[in-house]
Amino acid sequence: MANQELLNEIAKRRIFGIISHPDAGKTTLTEKLLLHGGAIREAGTVKAQKNSKYAKSDWMEIEKQRGISVTSSVMQFEYDEKMVSIMDTPGHNDFGEDTYRVLTSVDSAVMVIDAAKGIEAQTKKLFQVCRLRGIPIFTFMNKLDRQAKDPLELMQELEDVLGMPSVAVTWPIGSGMQFEGVYDRLENEVHLFRKDEVIKLGEDGVQGPELEGILEQANLDNLRSEIDLIEGAGNDFDLELVQEGELTPVFFGTALVDFGITPFLNHFLDMSPAPGPRKTTTGEVNPSDETFSGFIFKIQANMNPAHRDRIAFLRICSGTFERGMSVTLTRTGKQIKLSQSTQLMANDRETVDRAYAGDVIGIYDSGNYQIGDTLTDGKQKLFFEPLPTFPPELFLRVAPVNSMKSKHFHKGVDQLAQEGAIQVYKNEFNDVILGAVGRLQFEVFEYRLKHEYNSDVRMEPVNYTVARWVKTDNVKGLQRFQDSRSMLVFDRYGRPLFLFPNQFALDRFKERNEEIELVEALDVNREISVE
Ligand code: G4P
Repeated sequence: MANQELLNEIAKRRIFGIISHPDAGKTTLTEKLLLHGGAIREAGTVKAQKNSKYAKSDWMEIEKQRGISVTSSVMQFEYDEKMVSIMDTPGHNDFGEDTYRVLTSVDSAVMVIDAAKGIEAQTKKLFQVCRLRGIPIFTFMNKLDRQAKDPLELMQELEDVLGMPSVAVTWPIGSGMQFEGVYDRLENEVHLFRKDEVIKLGEDGVQGPELEGILEQANLDNLRSEIDLIEGAGNDFDLELVQEGELTPVFFGTALVDFGITPFLNHFLDMSPAPGPRKTTTGEVNPSDETFSGFIFKIQANMNPAHRDRIAFLRICSGTFERGMSVTLTRTGKQIKLSQSTQLMANDRETVDRAYAGDVIGIYDSGNYQIGDTLTDGKQKLFFEPLPTFPPELFLRVAPVNSMKSKHFHKGVDQLAQEGAIQVYKNEFNDVILGAVGRLQFEVFEYRLKHEYNSDVRMEPVNYTVARWVKTDNVKGLQRFQDSRSMLVFDRYGRPLFLFPNQFALDRFKERNEEIELVEALDVNREISVE
């Protein structure tokens, strides 16, 4: 039996990520949520960090230069007796892998959409990752203070482009210069824009007399006919479907002006699930299980250049974490004492003495951990479901400019590969080939090697776009399958893979070499059997 304290703590927790196309308003919304939660006192703090001249970590220079968020951290605050954690997800188009992995650690996602633009490319991609994992998705239509698309059209777009049924929880009253507020359908009340006033409606809802003379007549007429329509033809609200990730509740507002955030936050915290069970190789782990377990979904090196340290981000899946406790790393069987643990607020850290299932904490890493690693209190041997791996589609050959510095170069390459920042392969001549999902990963790699490992690198294009691992226990003799259109390389675990210039070359290779089984990805935990 789990003790009551643990059960209470789990029920309080909400952990989510915010996904959006760049510029839809993710940073602004994050900031407003933190303000509402009292985690920051002034507007501008998160934005300032995003644009700061004095970013805490050197390599965040890249973010500064490009005006994007490359790193992710977790921000925690208490609101209405809930412990809320927002996982920051890099939203840039070019930077894929890290964002995808962060989404494995959340229990729900908030999708921010610029209501003037509708659904954009990056939103669609991130949405699919959430959908794949059955993560409940909440939609926030932002920037209603500007001229927006017709709300019915936006709802239709959600269904058409994303293929996801939606249900409006709040509804906008006009937009841009005509924006007058939002109607909360579940609470049956209207929040008036710029008036800090809430009007409770009677049993006839917006069709009743309460809004007469308060809203512009054209807006009221519109609201009435739109609500009539969605009540007749729209989806009904169904909490179960929401929590299963089959129905997205939709909210309208403006993050910049901080309007529509309160009804959104209140409903979101009511509707979003607390931490639930997680799949492992030996069945499910429940958050209320007293035995401690968790997995590492992100490793970040040199967050503080003065300390040259690495932080592993651990999602606790069951039990209670106590600072100083000993855990077992399932992959190696090694026992590790967790004496340095931190909670991260943007880039500030605070020591954590105790944390519960659902929490994400940063633990100090002296080089023990890999992405996807499972930690337990040693009472059971289990692996959490492997994190999704994404076959890289971009490749470059890389070498140190100064061959005298090749030691620094190799150290940097190894560490960045271990961190999961980039994929690293070597061919028979020991050439280093980098593989990435997004182009920005190369830039970050180059920058970090120079600034953290003092190694300037030369990067050359190679003519490959497709990678496939070979499913085999016997790597000997694979060389003979290599031909003019393919290259045999080995990843950092020594697992063989072939690179091809295109799908056509891959198909030809498969036709000619039926005895070889090629796969898009290999199980992360299986890596140990190859080492
Ligand atoms: P992101 O993290 O998704 O990339 O977006 P971010 O919050 O940085 O917002 C992108 C731009 O959109 C910012 O303007 C921001 O002020 C603006 N914005 C966000 N929410 C709203 C909203 O509700 N209404 C309006 N009108 N604008 C909004 P910027 O000019 O790029 O930056 P800044 O100079 O305002 O900092």
